Amino acid sequence: MVSKVDLSVKIANHTYKNPVMSASGTFGYGTEFGDFFNPAILGGVVLKGVSVARVEGNPSPRIYETTAGMINAIGLQNVGIDIFLKDKVPPLKKIDSKIIANIWGRDIKEYIEIAERMDSIQELDVLELNISCPNIKKGGIEFGVDPVVAGEMTALVRKATGKDLWVKLSPSASNIGVMAKAVQDSGADAISLINSIPAMAIDVKRRKPRVANVIGGLSGPAIKPIAVRMVYQAAKAVNIPIVGIGGIMTAMDALEFIIAGASAVQVGTAGFINPHVFEDIIEGIEQFCLDEGIEDIKELIGSIRV
Ligand SMILES: Cc1cc2nc3c(=O)[nH]c(=O)nc-3n(C[C@H](O)[C@H](O)[C@H](O)COP(=O)(O)O)c2cc1C
Repeated sequence: MVSKVDLSVKIANHTYKNPVMSASGTFGYGTEFGDFFNPAILGGVVLKGVSVARVEGNPSPRIYETTAGMINAIGLQNVGIDIFLKDKVPPLKKIDSKIIANIWGRDIKEYIEIAERMDSIQELDVLELNISCPNIKKGGIEFGVDPVVAGEMTALVRKATGKDLWVKLSPSASNIGVMAKAVQDSGADAISLINSIPAMAIDVKRRKPRVANVIGGLSGPAIKPIAVRMVYQAAKAVNIPIVGIGGIMTAMDALEFIIAGASAVQVGTAGFINPHVFEDIIEGIEQFCLDEGIEDIKELIGSIRV
């Protein structure tokens, strides 16, 4: 059936067949959900964060379910660029969708190196820069909390790649509009937000933290209203596209982000509960548009009436 609604969206130099994507770290290296659905239905497939060196991640337990969400402290476990190239890139050729590689490093040098190495991989369309990582040289404070540091990093990574560069913002930034403007002015093609929110939970009887790392990142429906607010504020501060992330479970949730100003959305935690949620969200957005007489999803982007 040919869709009556144009669900395609443009972000920088690429057009995406629809605005629904996976979120980094919740969708493996792009093929793991293959038993449930063909990842090519997605507008974009965002891969797990990759760094130069292989990373084992944090000790267990690394995940704890909370009221309306979950705390994870995976510790950015990944295979490292060499194994990524050898084992994870070849299967991506078969996925007829845009592929977004999420990258990170322990210092600026590593960020530049991973960006340079990813730049030469043809199968990748976009690099998404995760700046919610501890800056070892600055006592472990996230790169993503300081607009000057985030801007410098964006400018350096910009020089290292000709691919579309999305900068994924941390919810720990005190002024998300200032942060969004800083990365835009340093060469970001788009902004994705939000990453998970630093959080903790305690097993009262054992007096022990629920995740071995003590502090983890909160994701899922609990964070959605915060994420929608941040997308709205970021969209007002910049003129580059925004990709909204945080607690999306349904098509209506995704539409909230789009109306707040997002050109596309990423879905993470919801996929752990229902791996078919991506199909439901795409269909639900299309049905909403049909019901409302909207022929092109782009009409809804930033259409909030305040
Ligand atoms: C288990 C897990 C692993 C994650 N790993 C990454 C990662 O490697 N890089 C990154 O930028 N974000 C990572 N995230 C954050 C998600 O991409 C997303 O920003 C966040 O979970 C909020 O979306 P959600 O509520 O739909 O899950 C991870 C989240 C979870 C739950």
